[in-house]
Amino acid sequence: MPRHSHAYSNGHASYGPGPSNTFSISPHRFQPRTQPALRWRRQIIIKICLMAGISAVILLLIFPSFRLILLPSIGMSSFLSDDSHIPTIRHYDLSNVQGSARGWEKEERILMCVPLRDAEPHLPMFFSHMRNFTYPHHLIDLAFLVSDSKDNTLPLLVDYLEKLQADPDPHQHFGEISVIEKDFGQKVQQDVENRHGFAAQASRRKTMAQARNWLLSATLRPYHSWVYWRDADVETAPPTILEDLMRHNKDIIVPNVWRPLPDWLGGEQPYDLNSWQESETALALADTLDEDAVIVEGYAEYATWRPHLAYLRDPYGDPDVEMDIDGVGGVSILAKAKVFRAGVHFPAFSFEKHAETEGFGKMAKRMKFSVVGLPHYTIWHLYEPSADDLKHMERMEEERLAKEAAEKEEAEKKKKMQESWSSPRDQWEQDKKAIDAALKEKEEKLGGGEEGPHVHVGDDEAAAPKVGLKAGGGGNSDA
Ligand SMILES: *[C@@H]1O[C@H](CO)[C@@H](O)[C@H](O)[C@H]1NC(C)=O
Repeated sequence: MPRHSHAYSNGHASYGPGPSNTFSISPHRFQPRTQPALRWRRQIIIKICLMAGISAVILLLIFPSFRLILLPSIGMSSFLSDDSHIPTIRHYDLSNVQGSARGWEKEERILMCVPLRDAEPHLPMFFSHMRNFTYPHHLIDLAFLVSDSKDNTLPLLVDYLEKLQADPDPHQHFGEISVIEKDFGQKVQQDVENRHGFAAQASRRKTMAQARNWLLSATLRPYHSWVYWRDADVETAPPTILEDLMRHNKDIIVPNVWRPLPDWLGGEQPYDLNSWQESETALALADTLDEDAVIVEGYAEYATWRPHLAYLRDPYGDPDVEMDIDGVGGVSILAKAKVFRAGVHFPAFSFEKHAETEGFGKMAKRMKFSVVGLPHYTIWHLYEPSADDLKHMERMEEERLAKEAAEKEEAEKKKKMQESWSSPRDQWEQDKKAIDAALKEKEEKLGGGEEGPHVHVGDDEAAAPKVGLKAGGGGNSDA
């Protein structure tokens, strides 16, 4: 076989260049072996080897997965690794999982990582998003990290996952699912005020970074080409988001993230301020801070004057427009798995004065990976009113109720006024009627008409005695 002859010639070559020509006789020593019987046996062996080789190649072409089973069994394990005759050893070629623009056509697998903390109220919406994903579900492996949750996130999650994987429509079924539980002793309360308060930011971000690293390192497998980070509290996003982001074929890419607001707050607002381009001001600021400091965006305490992806949104802009960024926000990140394999992670310490996803972006940039944001491709984060908003809303509600009460009072007053105002008029009208009636009666009497009206008038209480006085008694039957 070629390999052998190759080895033989190699062997020869190593001895060949010697000064003496002693090896020239060596073939003669083997001369007897080329007898017809031996030659025949060798030919048979060569033929068998050839046939086995050809069928192996054909099998490999038809079933690429046979490679793992087949190669060791025919003693070609050196193509895999030294000891892959051990059945528990798997071979992976990581050059096949680099990630490409149309990954779904090449069956590229995505690991979807979802950190969860007290996320019970968001799970129904989250699973609705998952069901709507157009990327082939069987190519998406799911990884959830449930940490520091005091609500029913975990049981509800498991419940939803069981239902999803038992769906009558097999296209709904996702790939492998991992649910990881780990608490990080996150002490900060999860309410919106604390979560977004300036003082809590650095330690919160470092803890989040650890959580992300734990989740990823526990679940990233050699066959994943992509990693998609997604928060559970995204309210609106296109179901094609995975393909939309993947098409750009960047190492790391994020959409713009806004949130809807109640009308009294302006209707909408940029939400994720962690996707930004580095600025001179921020670099100068970073130089003045001490080593462990973490710059967080969106707070007056650190005025960085960076161009934020969020603020560059044009609702009518081309959603494919790209913008190079340095820091990335974590609501929805699509990254090639090779970025993480190369060692980029979410720093749980100050890396260039940043931590977590912003530090991740910076680290990736530092390693020459492409980091891109799409200013006009927007997804919408759930609006959760802050404590201030809640207070404001409470005040607005009180004002509304007070206004309503005032209006009601006003209306009643008006009604009363009208009533008291209209009473004299009523009375006057009645008086007038009574007078008219009396006059008519007189006229009729004078005119000699002797029919009905007498009886009728007599029957009519209104007409009779009250000429003049009280109105509003029981007698307004003509009203
Ligand atoms: C998923 O798709 C359905 C049907 O189009 C739609 O009603 C639902 O709102 C979508 N879910 C989300 C979370 O967008």
